[in-house]
Amino acid sequence: MAKIVVTGKIPSGGLARLKAQHEVVAWEDAQPISRGKLLELVVGADAIVSLLTEKIDDELLEAAGSQLKSVSNVAVGYNNIDVPACEKRGVLVTNTPGVLTEATADIAMSLILMVTRRLAEGERVIRSQQPWQWGMFYMLGAGIQGRQLGIVGMGQIGIATARRAKAFGMNIAYTRRSPLEDHVIEELDAKYLTMDELIESSDVISLHCPYSPSTHHLIAENQLARMKKTAFLINTARGPIVNEQHLVDALKAGKIAGAGLDVFENEPVVNPGLLELENVALLPHLGSATVETRAAMADMAATNCLAILAGKPAPNQVFA
Ligand code: GLV
Repeated sequence: MAKIVVTGKIPSGGLARLKAQHEVVAWEDAQPISRGKLLELVVGADAIVSLLTEKIDDELLEAAGSQLKSVSNVAVGYNNIDVPACEKRGVLVTNTPGVLTEATADIAMSLILMVTRRLAEGERVIRSQQPWQWGMFYMLGAGIQGRQLGIVGMGQIGIATARRAKAFGMNIAYTRRSPLEDHVIEELDAKYLTMDELIESSDVISLHCPYSPSTHHLIAENQLARMKKTAFLINTARGPIVNEQHLVDALKAGKIAGAGLDVFENEPVVNPGLLELENVALLPHLGSATVETRAAMADMAATNCLAILAGKPAPNQVFA
């Protein structure tokens, strides 16, 4: 029997599968575990099942001990894990790709509609009991039909978002490091653009790339200044891909038309400048937040963790 440390609350199906085979020590509070408690909790773990709110770095690996075999993130993004540090210690790392693709693309599409059609702003008017009246020119938004959606990072979630946007009548442009499969290009009638071309020509830019040192502040002053004044920025990937202060400055100066954000640079803190702006839609990192998706994520993390403990290859191992 191995000792598995689960760093936060996860759906019961995945947890039960871990408990059926091994000793499980889980942080059961709804609040994320503090760093100090986490460093204590992981001592002696053979496997860790981690949430994206926990930083898995060399200090933590050291605290856990040399018996540690794996870290299974219950998330597709794994920027909270120092993968090279894990590899150096022979600790395998896994994530949960695929199962949250549709849920996250739903949120990206929702944010596109929220900002272009001023939905959050309209809801705020009613909720705050301000007077309002239908009017020919009242709260007009920007139509998206025939407009270009520029996808940065055309992976599974980018493609799923593009599918939705195409169904809403948008034209799809994308940038990505490796070539996109022909059948996807055909299905979406998608146009490859360089990052610069995409930034300058898109009406909506949606970020779907992983967060890494190479995508840190990928969108900052320089890129925001080159976007169309009428364009919107959507981020459902990771907050630090965007320089949040530069975004606030660009929005305040009217350099772009609006932004829809599900992720923030210093979660759960949100730059106060964003809160003052009506042309911004803000969601509290809800990308994968459906009952079904979270259950599937926990199940997948459990499968990965159990495979490694059984000495078998993990279906979703990631590498530095
Ligand atoms: C959620 O943000 C994830 O990476 O799974």
